[in-house]
Amino acid sequence: MSENLKTGKAGLLFCLLAPLAAAAAEPTPERASELVRMVRQDCGSCHGLTLKGGLGPPLLPETLREKPAESLRYTVLLGRPGTPMPPWKAFMNEAEADWVVRQLMQGFPEETRR
Ligand code: HEC
Repeated sequence: MSENLKTGKAGLLFCLLAPLAAAAAEPTPERASELVRMVRQDCGSCHGLTLKGGLGPPLLPETLREKPAESLRYTVLLGRPGTPMPPWKAFMNEAEADWVVRQLMQGFPEETRR
């Protein structure tokens, strides 16, 4: 996965701008469950399986409440250079990152089994 994360710099602008039109859209239920799975498994490897923190800080409503959703969304899309937080723009668009941040701020859903 880390190889994927490092490629695609040229596509960055396109990836960030193209989904703007759809920024307010909710993901489909199928995509939402993929995103929940991704956050629980991939983000959970650093932020803790229960998102209470590990290598990365907790991603719980009480720890995110004071922070602007906008900047959290860009942290998810672009990562934090100089820290282990990687960019996720290759795996989700802006609307999806926004959705993930909103879910984190509300208390992230459990994975559903299908
Ligand atoms: C390789 C480890 C790693 C993975 C995987 C990871 N993160 Fe992070 N994340 C971090 C670290 C470390 C920080 C703290 C960066 C800093 O020092 O500012 C961070 C910071 C954040 C922040 C900012 C938190 C705050 O309080 O400001 C958010 C939001 C976040 N991560 C979301 C995610 C999401 C969503 C995913 C999965 C899509 C994810 N992270 C995957 C390591 C990781």
